[in-house]
Amino acid sequence: IKKIGVMTSGGDSPGMNAAIRSVVRSCAYHDIECIGIYRGFQGMIEGDFITMNARSVKGIINKGGTILKSARSKGFRTKEGREEAHKQLIKAGVDALVVIGGDGSFNGAMVFNKEFNFPVMGIPGTIDNDIVGTTHTLGYDTALNTIVEVIDKIRDTASSHNRLFFVEVMGRDVGHIALNVGIGAGAEEILIPEEDLGLDRLVESLRRSKKSGKSSSIVVVAEGDKTGKNVFELKDYVEANMTEYEVRVSVLGHMQRGGAPSCFDRVLASRMGVKAVESFLEGKSNYMVGLKNDIIDLTPFDQAVKGKSKINMELIRVSDIMTT
Ligand code: F6P
Repeated sequence: IKKIGVMTSGGDSPGMNAAIRSVVRSCAYHDIECIGIYRGFQGMIEGDFITMNARSVKGIINKGGTILKSARSKGFRTKEGREEAHKQLIKAGVDALVVIGGDGSFNGAMVFNKEFNFPVMGIPGTIDNDIVGTTHTLGYDTALNTIVEVIDKIRDTASSHNRLFFVEVMGRDVGHIALNVGIGAGAEEILIPEEDLGLDRLVESLRRSKKSGKSSSIVVVAEGDKTGKNVFELKDYVEANMTEYEVRVSVLGHMQRGGAPSCFDRVLASRMGVKAVESFLEGKSNYMVGLKNDIIDLTPFDQAVKGKSKINMELIRVSDIMTT
């Protein structure tokens, strides 16, 4: 391997810059050339590349977002798009590719590897933590901290007005974020896609907590929850079925993806970048690097992509006990 290309793809997440930095510096350490690919697979198709050295990544470990920009490319889903991308890499002399992104990006990387036998390695970067083969994706820890801080603030105003708040958080179709921030911020109820206990139970539980002396309540709702109602419809439903609370809604949105990465994400990104580059040097390809029992390990791409990430059932029980 003489020249590695690195890109960020899909939804951005805090820690992506730290991962770019790690890949670039690991290349420099091992005397391998490195280029950055702008805007993920789309920039690859367009040959939008930049030569990077150890100094090109100074001052970015603490920055949210991604200096290489990110995109979800439609063109790369077509055979012609991938052929063009391959041509551009060959033209630039790139012989291995590190993709920092989520499962959609890994799918693209896997197809690319199959079609052109091109060495690829994935670094999981998404706030959703929805990837098999790693207990933590880059940006997840930071997002949890950002969200907990915001919910604490919402609680201040909720309790001043004796209000009930529905707070919608991201996570696509898994409940990792909701479950963890729900416990971390002391939510009264947490609605996640993996467990739909029904709306009657929600109302009943809110009534119970009111009776037990609680004046305000926070209900954390995962964006992919299975109640069949969005947060605004949930508000209407609760208001129609109980008069005990004045209800408000807060959809946290994309602020959850921003901000300086936590120390955990910076260290994780640094470790993952080193592992990705050094795995290429060991002749490996078509893997995702991940964290398992505090060890950075490899998972074959197809397993990482096909598997369904599971929530920790212990957390559901803990949450139930905490809301007594
Ligand atoms: O995958 C990260 C994520 O932020 C999800 O939590 C969310 O469902 C989605 O991306 C939002 O995508 P977009 O940035 O395209 O609106």
